[in-house]
Amino acid sequence: MTPENSKGQYPPSDEYRKYAFIKSEEEYYRIYDESIKDPVAYWVKQTDCIDWFSKDWKEAFTWDKKENKFTWFKGGKMNVTYNCLDRHVKNGLKNTAAIIFQGEEDDDVKVYTYGQLLHEVEKFSNVLKSKGVKKGDRVAVYLPMVPELPITLLACARIGAVHSVVFAGFSSDSVYNRVVDCTPKVMVTSDGSYRGGKKIDMKGKVNEILEKDTSVTTVVVVKRTGSDIVMEEGRDVWWHEEMAKAPIRCEPEVMDAEDPLFLLYTSGTTGKPKGLMHTSGGYLVGACTSFRNVFNYAPGQVYWCTADIGWITGHTYILYGPLSLGATTLMFEGVPNYPENDRFWQVAEKWKVDIFYTAPTAIRMIRKTGDEWITRHDLSSIKMLGSVGEPIDADVWKWYHKTVGGGRCPIADTWWQTETGSILISPMTGAFNLKPASAMKPLPGIEPVIYKEDKTECAAGESGNLYIKKPFPSLARTIWNDHEKFVETYWTAFPGHYLTGDGARVDEDGDYWLLGRVDDVISVAGHRIGAAEVEAALISHPAVAEAAVVPIPDEIKGEAIYTFVTLKDGFEESEDLKKQLIDQVRNIVGPIATPKTVQIANGLPKTRSGKIMRRLLRKIAGGSKKDELGDTTTLIDPGVIDVLIKGRV
Ligand code: PRX
Repeated sequence: MTPENSKGQYPPSDEYRKYAFIKSEEEYYRIYDESIKDPVAYWVKQTDCIDWFSKDWKEAFTWDKKENKFTWFKGGKMNVTYNCLDRHVKNGLKNTAAIIFQGEEDDDVKVYTYGQLLHEVEKFSNVLKSKGVKKGDRVAVYLPMVPELPITLLACARIGAVHSVVFAGFSSDSVYNRVVDCTPKVMVTSDGSYRGGKKIDMKGKVNEILEKDTSVTTVVVVKRTGSDIVMEEGRDVWWHEEMAKAPIRCEPEVMDAEDPLFLLYTSGTTGKPKGLMHTSGGYLVGACTSFRNVFNYAPGQVYWCTADIGWITGHTYILYGPLSLGATTLMFEGVPNYPENDRFWQVAEKWKVDIFYTAPTAIRMIRKTGDEWITRHDLSSIKMLGSVGEPIDADVWKWYHKTVGGGRCPIADTWWQTETGSILISPMTGAFNLKPASAMKPLPGIEPVIYKEDKTECAAGESGNLYIKKPFPSLARTIWNDHEKFVETYWTAFPGHYLTGDGARVDEDGDYWLLGRVDDVISVAGHRIGAAEVEAALISHPAVAEAAVVPIPDEIKGEAIYTFVTLKDGFEESEDLKKQLIDQVRNIVGPIATPKTVQIANGLPKTRSGKIMRRLLRKIAGGSKKDELGDTTTLIDPGVIDVLIKGRV
């Protein structure tokens, strides 16, 4: 990559251009324009990136706009695991590394070749079958970043079971809500996990959940930490014991493209997390083609995405995208600052990582610790960088480019969501001059549009709500058990358009700039936390009458959680009570949702219809003065504003 040009942009080097999948602006526009003229033809062509048992779909795309139901490649037969493993083993990658597992401790390493990974996956498929799991059944997965996690997911996909991963950092109640909703037969967990040098309990939490009434009949437990745990006879079995007696061969199930592959729960604007349902064929075509288009992976390279497989980024870009293309993907159990602040760079240097994909929150945290932690390592193997999860500001982008990328690596700022399954907007780094902080171009087959509140299209430079015109293959089909909610959340604001919930603007060059959420979803360190989920946790405390939760800017985490709480009569404000409230959220939702601030308030600003005006609370929490709050005349009691400003913490 050559340095910044006179427009403040970063052109790709000739060398990188040659090696990239899309090599020039002309090539991008040719592919893109054609894809938008006829998206179905474009996507049908993309189905060639995976192997099908049959491509017997009658219509590649159907769309019932009234019901908001759509299908891609329905009638086509395939298997996701076959595409991620078997076909590569057949095609000469048997002894190529599929997954490099780097544990938190440096000597804790396991490398699985495609051949070995297939072997493990076939065995675990048989374990699942022996526990009664059949095609279409759900399997709940609550595991840390250990190899058994991808093995479980690939085994589910092999036998047609639907996996539902719950991020290991969630607490019992969050896990419970996500588990009961999808009625799994089997749950896969571990005794515990390691994080930052500490052992963290997992099985204890699972035991707590399963004390309540659930559909789970078997719990498979991975031995990770060797902690003392309680196993319930007749229900709980050890992973290693089951694997030792499992038959070795398991043929992949023939799946319809529209058969569900997985559910992944994400926070929304209500207290109840939504189980987004992704399909087998459309999702894999999206994962595979986007990985190819964005990351320019070349055989022999090592690709590292630092996300957790408990989130969509890990599903698509640690697992399904890279493995469907036969790449070597590194999975890392640890954190950036353990044992020291240079852990990422130590790992990147050790494995000679070629492509490094992380989140702005990690970049900001690393930047704060000082460049020395990075420059002491030889990172010359890195050829490109990625960013995902939140907006990355221009300063942080430039620092990442210079210090981690040595001024030579392009950065793909990739925008997408749990719902979209795969990246929708990202620079094609071999084709365009990069603009720091812009996610730049829609991927082929994707047509974004930005509308103002009045539903007229924004002109260049104007900000509005980002929609995607028409469904594309990797878009979630529904919310598990709640299609109505799916319609209401994504398809009602502008019928026929998918509402992303993000603000954006597009500039004169057609480059997209993402501006963050426009709904009541808070992005803490890139993790989506529903304000309503935190409010529900607070309200369940006996002292709390009402709660409102808003984001405030945070230097490292992007956003932090600020809570306004009104107390029931008879309860007094105290530091101890505030601490109890914070703990309440940690215990119910999880440590990732820990509020930064609790402000006890006598009243909250409400409209005449009783709606809490979060817009005002956001501003108050963020430090705005009264005259910066805008119109407050619709409030029942405008006096509440002065009190809230005065009580700001
Ligand atoms: O607000 C956007 C932000 O993350 C949200 C999606 O969160 P989640 O479903 O958890 O998936 C995260 C990983 C794909 C989006 O609505 N977001 C994601 N990537 C970016 C981003 N915001 C700005 N720039 C990005 N590159």
